Amino acid sequence: METPELFKDGKRLDGRALDELRPIRIIAGVLKEAEGSAFVEWGGNKVICGIYGPRECIPKHGASPYTALLKCRYTMSPFASLEEHGRTGPNRRSTEISKVIREAFGGVVMSGEFPKTQIDIYVDVLQAEGGTRIAAIAAATVALANAGIPMKDMISGVAVGKAGGQLVVDLGKAEDNYGESDMPIAFTHRDKEIVFLQMDGKLTPEELGNCIDSAMEASEKVYALQSEALRKSYEAEGGQELDI
Ligand code: CDP
Repeated sequence: METPELFKDGKRLDGRALDELRPIRIIAGVLKEAEGSAFVEWGGNKVICGIYGPRECIPKHGASPYTALLKCRYTMSPFASLEEHGRTGPNRRSTEISKVIREAFGGVVMSGEFPKTQIDIYVDVLQAEGGTRIAAIAAATVALANAGIPMKDMISGVAVGKAGGQLVVDLGKAEDNYGESDMPIAFTHRDKEIVFLQMDGKLTPEELGNCIDSAMEASEKVYALQSEALRKSYEAEGGQELDI
């Protein structure tokens, strides 16, 4: 398939600068039944996350006497994007994304405080426009904090990479699908530890370093929005209105 133009008149397709994030909106505490929840609108992505637990482990024999089991289920709704329409349920991609999200939080959630239980992170993608795993991580961090689950640190991330020969921050769908390289990455806020990193395509070591630096900078902006969402949720008693 022929690669479409990723730059027009020196600008990205949606007019953004190379290091500019898409508009991001985060709302915490949007679901009544879940222990914690968050909705994230990130450009054309819309994801919602609900947290259940710590609760009794199912099946019981899977429980650990030492720690809570952290589980994650990421799914994309059948109407989330053109390619996905008509197909639903778990597939290879959603199984992989569920696994890597779970591993990202494995290092920060203080599971040892809740032996014999499980904590469930459910993320549903309602609309997709490239970067849904990163939007899912942003939502899950806020939802876990909203649930009052103790964490060593918050996680924030962004996808960086190379599209049309340029290093770009927060790849849009066309850049993700047709660019030379896509590297979603997430850091802990305080220590800037990398807790999540995947990569498609190729980057030189120098480009890789530059990508990590700009991702770190962009993640700070995401972190600011995450903490602002949490602050607002404490002020709003009885949950927040979700206008999607
Ligand atoms: O969403 P993310 O970038 O984390 O994951 P991806 O697998 O690299 O997919 C990139 C984008 O391609 C998604 O965000 C969707 O917009 C689109 N996609 C799709 O429409 N249908 C799929 N089955 C997979 C991806």
